[in-house]
Amino acid sequence: MAQYARGSAVAVIRLRNPPVNALSLPVLQALEDGLKKADADPSVKAVMICGENGKFSAGADIRGFSSPKRFGGALGPIVSLIDSSEKPVVAAIEGVALGGGLEVALGCHYRIAHVKESFKWSSSMGLPEVTIGLLPGAEGTQRLPRLIGVPAALDMITTGKHIPATEALKLGLVDEIVEENTIEAAIRLANKVIGQPLGPRRLSLKQVPRLPNMEAFLEEALVKVKRQARGCLAPELCFQAVRAAAESPFAAGVRRERELFQVLLSSGQAQALQYAFFAERAVRRWATPGGACWSSAAPQPVRRAAVIGLGTMGRGIVTSLVKANIPLVALEQDLENLNKGRKAVMLLLEREAMKMEGGAQTLDFHNPARLQFTVDFDVLHDVDLVIEAVFENMALKKEIFHKLSKICKPGALLCTNTSALNIDEIASATNRPQQVIGTHFFSPAHVMRLLEIIYGRHTSPTAIATAMQLAKALKKVGVVVGNCFGFVGNRMMFPYVQQAVFLLEEGSRPETVDQVLEDFGFKIGPFRMSDLAGLDVGWRSRKDQGLTGPSLPAGTPARQRHGQRYSPLPDLLCEQGRFGQKTARGWYLYERVGGRTATPDPWLHNFLSQYRDNHGIQTRFIDQEEILERCLFSLINEGFAILAEGIASGPEHLDVIYINGYGWPKHRGGPMFYASTVGLPRVLAKLQKYSEAHPDVPGLRPSAFLKKLVAVGNPPLKEWMSYLSQQSSKL
Ligand code: CAA
Ligand code: NAI
Repeated sequence: MAQYARGSAVAVIRLRNPPVNALSLPVLQALEDGLKKADADPSVKAVMICGENGKFSAGADIRGFSSPKRFGGALGPIVSLIDSSEKPVVAAIEGVALGGGLEVALGCHYRIAHVKESFKWSSSMGLPEVTIGLLPGAEGTQRLPRLIGVPAALDMITTGKHIPATEALKLGLVDEIVEENTIEAAIRLANKVIGQPLGPRRLSLKQVPRLPNMEAFLEEALVKVKRQARGCLAPELCFQAVRAAAESPFAAGVRRERELFQVLLSSGQAQALQYAFFAERAVRRWATPGGACWSSAAPQPVRRAAVIGLGTMGRGIVTSLVKANIPLVALEQDLENLNKGRKAVMLLLEREAMKMEGGAQTLDFHNPARLQFTVDFDVLHDVDLVIEAVFENMALKKEIFHKLSKICKPGALLCTNTSALNIDEIASATNRPQQVIGTHFFSPAHVMRLLEIIYGRHTSPTAIATAMQLAKALKKVGVVVGNCFGFVGNRMMFPYVQQAVFLLEEGSRPETVDQVLEDFGFKIGPFRMSDLAGLDVGWRSRKDQGLTGPSLPAGTPARQRHGQRYSPLPDLLCEQGRFGQKTARGWYLYERVGGRTATPDPWLHNFLSQYRDNHGIQTRFIDQEEILERCLFSLINEGFAILAEGIASGPEHLDVIYINGYGWPKHRGGPMFYASTVGLPRVLAKLQKYSEAHPDVPGLRPSAFLKKLVAVGNPPLKEWMSYLSQQSSKL
């Protein structure tokens, strides 16, 4: 828990709680005992606190985080105890010092940190409580501004970012950084400072460094924090706590910190964000829904990769691979497209290099041994993994996979970035279906964290493990799902977008629908999103599916396909050349081709009215509740169908996909978590109501699994899947 040992004059307290020395209540108790022991022992002249196994501490134990209130209450007095010690206390920071871990270090009189870039646990520090919906509740919001000033503290506390030891030294967060043995260096420092006055080292006695324009700075910072938070409470309350540090004496600031902490605890957002933290970790332990757990399969090494197609997606994927230090070949269909693609990739890489320490040298992308451009498929004979990102066209993809299976070495993994197509059909064009897998990146691929990994009927565990390993190497969240049209993310998106368009038919406007969903917390509403991605993308796909105009059998009603409601509105806009930002017109008007500023378009409003008149639709006022519920509940309903079909092995998978790939507000925990907070009986009742009003819309018809869960008494989310396996025959 925490090991106490006495050297000559320096007592050592070593935090011990693998894997990250989290501060559970027993660890805190042992820390307190150690401090008291050192205080009572006259031969001890100084204390050094460190963590076992090269990690200081990742903060409160959030594995059993049922009682953060108790934790906050327990750690604060210990931090004060350290601060008020008559004997100097030195923190030796190796690995992580996060949250409560950093708060312990802030109680200490001196901090020394380890620096060595190649060291696996090279030290990094931060107060990430905001990311789990809380604020640093053990005086961190009061101590950090006193140590490094309000601007830097505000940045760290409201974003939760981790900073490396070198930056910590620049900010004054640590007194020294050392490359050699940190523990020995900390003991040397402790010996050196024995007998020196501790008053100036106690942060509780220090004044917050004044800024000449503190009030103006804070006002400006608040606007920024609110803008970035988009409905998430924690960043703003973190701000309020730091403001209290800037404006009040230490004790009053601590009281304010505690009050604000309580508000966050009872907000519900903290629970959602902590759920999201664990969901992200749970999806790493992937399994196929059939029950066979494959996450123990060993991945194959990827020493050299290839990307085919350097369009929107291929460029981002290449950038991502280069950033992960994976040598690769980038291939295009002809020299013209190759040159275009190469130019775009180089631009992206230059930009990425500028953000990195060491710049272009670190990325080394001008070295052809690391990044080779070609139009020659034969160059791919020795790569370990290929990612295909050509047009979304089954015939083309099959042609490419057939070629790859002839050229690539036997063990090479063949990945497709298709956003919806059948993985089994693509695999059927190869002589190695077990090595074919979907790796669905999200745009922009070098930025978005999600990698949806789709296994087909024959995909081997090794292939899945390799794709998961690739996600990790690219610093992405890999989520393993089954094969169906649109997989998980896009399949759930279809009914959501469909509802948004139906709402326009019935009387709403794009800006109204977008606003409701953005107020809910989405980064971008469905119509702004559609303009950004390009309306032509979906149009092409609907044409391929035979859903649009000319290919329809004669007599097909304009607003129906296969006996179901269908809105031709997006097709009609495309026929007018309105593809979104790329044509300066779509659901909105833009200032120029490629412009980003969406303005409501009177032409579109008029067009919608005429459309309703032509189809005899009476325009009605649709309130925010209906907009929100029809869009969200239809998406959630599809999620239940996906779970029932075994396409994903748990609701966490769907939630991680939505948070990391579709801009779902993390403080609402993902769509399935959100459904559990709304209450499944309510979701069901609303779907039933809307479905009765729109019987020709299958997306609103409640899924059998949702009905089952309500019938068995609305069990908590973590139990849902057990009802599926017990009751599946009845679904
Ligand atoms: N408590 C308990 N377990 C933790 C933990 C914590 N604070 N942090 C990480 N773990 C666990 C993970 O769940 C994981 O366990 P499994 O292997 O069983 O899944 C294991 O430690 C390793 O963690 P990661 O897989 O995440 O490893 P990583 O190398 O990718 O990242 C890390 C390590 C940077 C520490 C990351 O885990 C992290 O960011 N942890 C959370 C840190 C945090 O938010 N601390 C603040 C807590 S709140 C607080 O301290 C104060 C308060 O006022 C309440
Ligand atoms: P794109 O049209 O921007 O680029 C496709 C590229 O493939 C073009 O540069 C083209 O020259 C190249 N190409 C075509 N045939 C080729 C061949 N035979 N050999 C080599 N290169 C060839 O398309 P985009 O948007 O990059 O999409 C690629 C794939 O990624 C599609 O399957 C798409 O569904 C999927 N996807 C797209 C997303 C997006 O937001 N654009 C998101 C996620 C997946």
